Amino acid sequence: MPRSKATQYVDNDKLSTFEPNQLTEEIRRLRQMEKLILRKKLAMEMKLQNVLADRDMYKRKFLEAQTKLEQLNLNPLPVAVVEKLITEDENRAVVRLISGQMFVCHYDPNLAIHEGDNVALHQRSMSIMEVLPSFIDPNVVAMELMTLPDTTYEEIGGLSQEIMEMREVIELSLSQPEVFKEFNISPPRGVLLYGPPGTGKTLLAKATANGAQAKFLKLAAPELVQKFIGEGARLVREIFKKARDEKGPVIVFVDEIDAIAAHRTAENQSGEREVNRTLMQLLAEMDGFENNDNIRLIAATNRIDILDPAILRPGRFDRIIELPLPNEASRQAIFKIHLKKTPKYGIHLEELAQRSDELSGADIKAVCMEASMIALRDHLNNTKKARKRVLQKDLLKAIENFKTKRKIQSNPPTQSVGLYA
Ligand SMILES: Nc1ncnc2c1ncn2[C@@H]1O[C@H](COP(=O)(O)OP(=O)(O)O)[C@@H](O)[C@H]1O
Ligand SMILES: [Mg+2]
Repeated sequence: MPRSKATQYVDNDKLSTFEPNQLTEEIRRLRQMEKLILRKKLAMEMKLQNVLADRDMYKRKFLEAQTKLEQLNLNPLPVAVVEKLITEDENRAVVRLISGQMFVCHYDPNLAIHEGDNVALHQRSMSIMEVLPSFIDPNVVAMELMTLPDTTYEEIGGLSQEIMEMREVIELSLSQPEVFKEFNISPPRGVLLYGPPGTGKTLLAKATANGAQAKFLKLAAPELVQKFIGEGARLVREIFKKARDEKGPVIVFVDEIDAIAAHRTAENQSGEREVNRTLMQLLAEMDGFENNDNIRLIAATNRIDILDPAILRPGRFDRIIELPLPNEASRQAIFKIHLKKTPKYGIHLEELAQRSDELSGADIKAVCMEASMIALRDHLNNTKKARKRVLQKDLLKAIENFKTKRKIQSNPPTQSVGLYA
C-alpha cells in the first residue's frame, strides 16, 4: 500500500530516535511546511472560485445563445389590423394584413380586442394570438401637451361675444357644475369653433383652458390619420382615458377636426375606413362624457362645409361658434395687442384698422412683425439717423407688402412658355 501524503513528512519511527535539539529543529521544519500548505490551500481555493465564476458565466452565455437560437427557430407571426369584430356568433373577427388581404379569424374571448387594434396572427390558422401594444406611446404624445396654457383672454382682440359664450359653456360649467345641475342642464360636452384660418380658434381654446384652470390636451386631427396610421382610433381612446384619469379639469382640443370628420364617402378605401374609425371613436368618447364632469372638448375647423352631419347633430356639440374675420373695431384691438411690446412712435391704430380689411388676426400679427423688420433694416442702414422705433409708415408699408404678396399668391403670374404651348 502506498504511503499517504500525511505520513510522507512525519516518520514516527524516526522521531523516537531524535535528539532533543533535533526535535525542535524538526518541529520548526514542520511548522514552516504547515504554513506553506495553508498558503497553497488558499491559492487553490481562489483558483476554484475563479473557475466557478467562469462556469457561471459560460452557463449564462449558453442560455442566452439557446434563447436566441429558439427565437431564430420560431415562426414569424403575421401582423394585422382588426377591421371588425363579429361577436354575435362565436368569437371571430375580420382582420386585414398590411398587404391588404382580409381574413375572418377566430380569437380567444379572453383577449381584449377592439376594432383598430394591431394583432399578431398564427401563421397557419390565422387565429389571433395576441394583441400587440400600440406602436406609439400615448404618454409621449399626450404628456408634453398636458399643460396649463398661459394664454389669457386679454391676448384676444375682438371676439368678446365668442369669449363670453366660451366662458359660459366651458369655464362656468367646470367651475360651478352645481348651478348647471340646479337648472337641470346636463353638463356640456364641448364646443365647435369654425372660421377662416388665423382667426384665433387655437388662441381662444387655450385662453378658455387658462380661464377654467384646465389642463390643455391638443390633438391635431391630420396627424392622427397621417402620422399614426392605423393607430388613430386607439390613440383617441387612450388619450381620453388619460384625460379621465386626471384629477382636475381637462380640455381636449381637436384641431382641424375636418381631417377625421369629413363627410363620409364610399367605404372602399382603407384610408377612408381608418378616418371613419377615428371619428367613430371620438364620437363614442363624446357620448361617454355624460358620466364625467371634468372633460370638455373643443374642436376647430376651417372647413365646416365638409363636416360629417353626424358630428354636427344636436347633442354632440353644445355650441357651434363662428370666428369670422375681424371687423374694423376688432382689427384695431388686434393691432393694439400685437404692438403692445413694440417700441413705437406716432401710431394711428384707426388708420391701420381701416387699411387692413380682409386680414385675419394671424395676418395682423405677421404685419406687425414685418413692420418691425422694416424699421430694423432702416435702423441698421441709416447710421447717421439711427432710429429705434416703429413708425406708422412702416406698418402701412407692411400692410401693403402683405396685400401684394397675397394677390400674387391667389393669382400666380401665368408662365408664357408652357410645355405644351
Ligand atoms: N383675435 C385675435 N386677437 C389677437 N391675436 C390673434 C387673433 N386671432 C389670431 N391671432 C394671432 O394669430 C395667431 C394664430 O391664430 P390661431 O389661433 O392659431 O388661428 P386659428 O387657430 O384660427 O387658425 C395667434 O397665436 C395670435 O397671435
Ligand atoms: Mg389653429
